[in-house]
Amino acid sequence: MYSEARPQAEVSDDPRLGDVVVGSDRLAERVRELGAQITADYADRPPLLVGVLKGAFVVMSDLARAVQLPVEIDFMAVASYGTATKSSGVVRIVKDLDTDLSNRDVLVVEDIVDSGLTLSYLRRNLLVRNTKSLEVCALLVKKGQQRVDLGIRYVGFTIPPAFVVGYGLDIAERYRNLADIRVYEDSASDRAKRA
Ligand code: IMP
Ligand code: MG
Repeated sequence: MYSEARPQAEVSDDPRLGDVVVGSDRLAERVRELGAQITADYADRPPLLVGVLKGAFVVMSDLARAVQLPVEIDFMAVASYGTATKSSGVVRIVKDLDTDLSNRDVLVVEDIVDSGLTLSYLRRNLLVRNTKSLEVCALLVKKGQQRVDLGIRYVGFTIPPAFVVGYGLDIAERYRNLADIRVYEDSASDRAKRA
C-alpha cells in the first residue's frame, strides 16, 4: 500500500486544495480492516467485487489485496448527469460488466456516496440481474446527505459534506492520484466557468 511522502509540486500550488480529511495512513489502515471483515463475512462464498469507475479504481486496488479470498473483479463505468460537484441521479452506464451476475455474491465497491442517487440507481440496475446477494462497500459516505437509508454494509469513513478529492476522487478528472483525501474548495465562479 502506498503511503510514503512524495513530491507533488503542482498540488501544493493550488490554493483550492484544502485540509486533509483522511490521510493515507488512516486510509490504508481502514481498508485493511474492511478487507478483514469482508474476508470473514464471505469465507465460504468468495464474492465478485464490482468497482464503479472511475473513482473506485484506487480503493478497489487496495481493498482487493486486503481480502484473503479467491475473489473475482469486474468494473462498470457510469456517468451521472449534473454539475461538476453535484449529481442529478440520472445515471448512464458507459461501460457495463463483463460478468454474468446471476447467482453470484456481488459486492459493489464505491468511492463516495453523496446524495445516494447514483448508488440507488446502481442497486436497482444490478438487482434485476438475479444476483444471489448484493452488498455495497463505500469508502466514504457524506454525513446527512442521503434522503433514504441505502443499507450500505461496509463504510470506510463518514465525512462532513464538503467536496473532496484524492485516492481516486476527482474534480474535472484531476487529483485522483493524491495519496490523501483532501477538501477541494470550489468557488461559485469556478463552477460557473465549467458549466
Ligand atoms: P451521489 O449520486 O450524489 O451519491 O454522487 C455520487 C458520485 O458523485 C460519486 O460516485 C462521485 O463520482 C461523485 N462525487 C460525489 N461527491 C464527491 C466528492 O466530494 N468528490 C468527488 N466526487 C464526488
Ligand atoms: Mg467524478
